[in-house]
Amino acid sequence: MSEKGLLEKIESRKALVGIIGMGYVGLPLVRTFCGGGFRVLGYDIDPAKVRSLNAGKSYIEHIPSQMIAELVRSGRFRATSRASELRRCDAIIICVPTPLTKTRDPDMTYIIGTAETIRDNLRRGQLVVLESTTYPGTTREVVRPILEKSGLKAGRDFFLAFSPEREDPGRKDYVTETIPKVVGGMGTAARTLATALYGAVIKQVVPVSSCEVAEATKIVENVYRCVNIAMVNELKMLFDRMGIDVWEVIDAAKTKPFGFSAFYPGPGLGGHCIPIDPFYLSWKAREYHMPTRFIELAGEINTAMPHYVIERLARALSDRGKPLKGSRVLVLGLAYKKDIDDIRESPSIELIEILCERGATVDYNDPHVPTTHKQREHDLRLKSIPLTARTLASYDAVLISTDHSAYDYDFIVRHARLVVDTRNATANVRNGRSKIVKA
Ligand SMILES: NC(=O)c1ccc[n+]([C@@H]2O[C@H](COP(=O)([O-])OP(=O)(O)OC[C@H]3O[C@@H](n4cnc5c(N)ncnc54)[C@H](O)[C@@H]3O)[C@@H](O)[C@H]2O)c1
Repeated sequence: MSEKGLLEKIESRKALVGIIGMGYVGLPLVRTFCGGGFRVLGYDIDPAKVRSLNAGKSYIEHIPSQMIAELVRSGRFRATSRASELRRCDAIIICVPTPLTKTRDPDMTYIIGTAETIRDNLRRGQLVVLESTTYPGTTREVVRPILEKSGLKAGRDFFLAFSPEREDPGRKDYVTETIPKVVGGMGTAARTLATALYGAVIKQVVPVSSCEVAEATKIVENVYRCVNIAMVNELKMLFDRMGIDVWEVIDAAKTKPFGFSAFYPGPGLGGHCIPIDPFYLSWKAREYHMPTRFIELAGEINTAMPHYVIERLARALSDRGKPLKGSRVLVLGLAYKKDIDDIRESPSIELIEILCERGATVDYNDPHVPTTHKQREHDLRLKSIPLTARTLASYDAVLISTDHSAYDYDFIVRHARLVVDTRNATANVRNGRSKIVKA
């Protein structure tokens, strides 16, 4: 199929869209493309996810099962783990993980594996778009050569583009359809086609001159957050020594109508993006003999935060005549941020591990995470304990790691003996403030 033929199929919504990776990014995209009138084929190597989706069941809290069930019933969506079905797709969007290896280098195995799968099923006239967050150069240097091993050539036989995902799970004011989409193509035909594809379902598309610019855009967004969070984390430690409340300072500073964006300190960085993506750029920078000092420094400060929090907790216990060793600590919130169920890279997990190492007995409560599941590097094997007046009072300290909206902070402070608050979640609690220590 020619560029013109594919463009017509996209504009008339007759194109079949294949989405690879049915996770936190892939599933909202399914909803967006189906909602925009396209038929979507979801491909995932995890057969349990495929079975669940085809049975109309979601495994992500903020994606309702009912929505998946309706899409399956309407015939607009189906999931598969048969790679050969990708051949039928007119556009293929890649949303697979991009973690770090144990030595904190980019783990490209998912992108490479996916590119090889597409290569084996590639046909003339397909558009392939990479959405996974990665270092500038990935689409051209990693994906393209694998796809071209099929004998087909990018720009002539098939079209290749990069468009970064900007999903922010749990956010209510913006959804996939209303978050502007940056698109870079390998050549103008690829850019035109990818712009048309996303333009059909997303309010604003921002075409840029190359895949590298699009790849760098995403990394810059995440480096910006990572560095600014590190800055306020460092200031939190300084202001604490000076007897100044950093949250009050930030709230005052953000009244300035220009030139200041508020970032908030916390117990450390979490999630699939901010603790990881900047290191994709640091790794690539080595090829150019350039150190990325802001990224390294921010990483250093942010990864030290859980230790700082535990030191503050230990001091607060000691002030009350209790050593940390042998104390019972209840961690509130296991998800890496408020109101979601995602625990990847969550600082809460590190807090729990440090507490256990230091001889404390630890439990957790999280209304969004009833039980822990095995992750790449952790296996806590814990269950969320119920949050009652009795349980709260039975711990030497309650450590607020994630400020879920579902928590009743007045109730927590009323019944806990000591509350260590890493998120300023207890800001509006009036009574029992002497029990609260900010960390
Ligand atoms: N989660 C977020 O909030 C977010 C936001 C912006 C960008 N991103 C980026 O989007 C990408 C995907 O992240 P995610 O959070 O959706 O990950 P995820 O782990 O939730 O989902 C990835 C899915 O890909 C599947 N998969 C892995 N290898 C595969 C293969 N070879 N073929 C087919 N399927 C495969 C997995 O089974 C899983 O279902 C990452 O690069 C991430 O950095 C994530």
